[in-house]
Amino acid sequence: MCGIVGYVGPRPVTDVLIPGLSRLEYRGYDSAGIAVHGGDTMTVVKRAGRMSELEAAVAGLDVNGGRGGVGHTRWATHGAPNTTNAHPHQDCAASVVVVHNGIIENWAALKSELVARGHSFASDTDTEVVAHMIEEMADLPLAEAVRQVMKRADGALALVVMRVQDPDLIVGARRHSPLVVGRGDGENFIASDIPAFLEHTRDMVVLDDDRVIEVRPESVTITDLDGNPVEVRERKIEWDFEAAEKGGYPTFMLKEIHEQPDAIADTLLGRVDASGQVQLKELELDDRLLRAVDKVFVVACGTSYHAAMMAKYAIERWTRLPVEIDIASEFRYRDPVLDARSLVVGISQSGETIDTLAAIRYARAQGSTVIGVSNVVDSALARESDAVLYTRAGPEIGVAATKTFTTQLVVMQLLGLYLAQVRGSMDPGAIEQLVTEMRTLPEAVKSVLERDDEIAKIAAEFGDVRDFFFLGRSGDFPVAMEGALKLKEIAYVRAEGYAAGEMKHGPIALIEPGVVVVGVATDNHVKSKTLSNMEEMRARGGTIVLVVEEGDGDAKEVADHVIEVPRGSDLLCTVTAVVPLQLLAYHIATAKGLDVDKPRNLAKTVTVE
Ligand code: G6P
Repeated sequence: MCGIVGYVGPRPVTDVLIPGLSRLEYRGYDSAGIAVHGGDTMTVVKRAGRMSELEAAVAGLDVNGGRGGVGHTRWATHGAPNTTNAHPHQDCAASVVVVHNGIIENWAALKSELVARGHSFASDTDTEVVAHMIEEMADLPLAEAVRQVMKRADGALALVVMRVQDPDLIVGARRHSPLVVGRGDGENFIASDIPAFLEHTRDMVVLDDDRVIEVRPESVTITDLDGNPVEVRERKIEWDFEAAEKGGYPTFMLKEIHEQPDAIADTLLGRVDASGQVQLKELELDDRLLRAVDKVFVVACGTSYHAAMMAKYAIERWTRLPVEIDIASEFRYRDPVLDARSLVVGISQSGETIDTLAAIRYARAQGSTVIGVSNVVDSALARESDAVLYTRAGPEIGVAATKTFTTQLVVMQLLGLYLAQVRGSMDPGAIEQLVTEMRTLPEAVKSVLERDDEIAKIAAEFGDVRDFFFLGRSGDFPVAMEGALKLKEIAYVRAEGYAAGEMKHGPIALIEPGVVVVGVATDNHVKSKTLSNMEEMRARGGTIVLVVEEGDGDAKEVADHVIEVPRGSDLLCTVTAVVPLQLLAYHIATAKGLDVDKPRNLAKTVTVE
């Protein structure tokens, strides 16, 4: 998830690009760059780090005579976040500049072809292939060259391109990654998101998928990938800056909850193939090493620990390897028994949580192999692990984790299936079935999000409730734990996550009228047992909310409120089942007027013990 800005018109180009990029920093901020078209040359300036670094570098340059330009603020998905990998990227002759948001899945194959034809690459990015491809099509109009690129590139992408022989022209294209056009008077803008140009215009052109757009100072034309003209649809933007940054949502947290279908789709991209296999090429660990593993440890903190809990069920079930899970701050002090045959997975959204880093350092010192799972490319966890798997959720600004959690679940499920594949512990047909189902998760989550109003109504009844329990068994247990944590974090309400079957050993003494018990019962092999436990809570006067699969008639008998999620396999269902609990916590907190994006006493990243 990166930010793109392009401009053609009479203003000093950097006066548009730099503030525009700053407005998009919430989309990513590990490096940034601009290219300015000066008529017969293009000047490119790039810097690692925050926008202030680029701003300082541009301040000393005479690039303001330009007629158009593009800029980019990066949230790395491919290649370390350094100056070389910052966008824009160029071809061999420096005649093309490209900025890109998204992932080109088949970049490696495209790059090998280009290298074989003599191109040399400056960066480690997937994006650079586009510049070299366009270089080879110098005799075609730029829009046609971009159409050809879009036909050959797989994956989700938004591209914006300029070429030295075409001053006053920017060509953009999009597929599943956002790109919008702002229309001005004798000037036009193109960007990943509205805030980039909102101070200049409120007239926006909506761009659909698989469209190529030519932006000139006086005109905007759109074609499909075969070059057929497409009607230009305009919209007036009513939002202010703050609303625009949040995509029209009242908070970042709600925006991020709604971004989950896309985040999950991005996380799956290129990792599940059409033949039903899991591909984790980026893991770069020898299969022999993975086959020799005799025990798995998963360590994490907070929400990430709940992803570790799900991973225990998944990896044990699919690989038959024993899995231990640990809260990272406990792991290093309990003297765990590790050796060279242990595989240790550290999960951390930020990749900077000190407890998780200390845990993986300890594991490496014992000779174990460490895989890091992080949302931040080149984070300390990524750098210090033997291998890394990224969640591709994009920056998460709300302190309470939402889209990073569901993408962690997805990554841990992929890792579990991959281990099963490599170790031959599971029938390939069964893996294929789960992989096929994983591809439907984005749609399944979307359908849960459509129940938002229904969930808000339930939440409205709980404004004064002081005590909640969240219960589940098996895969539903980590979901319940996460539901409770969300409520504690943002609504400041006591909420205990518990294994449903354990309630009878003590906590059931706390159940009385006025206590709300949220049960999660989507895991089919334990569902009837969870429902019996919920009966026990109801018999003691608890108000019962149940998250169940669609069409689950039994649940209605037991519950005061039922929230349905689409049917799915056990463990995969965790991804959908947690979404109503995120929304429930969200609505309870916002009804109290609380700032869900910045809950009291919490920090997004905790770098102290
Ligand atoms: C903080 C955050 C939590 C997060 C935890 C672990 O406490 O407030 O939301 O789950 O850190 O963070 P990590 O970046 O390691 O996943």
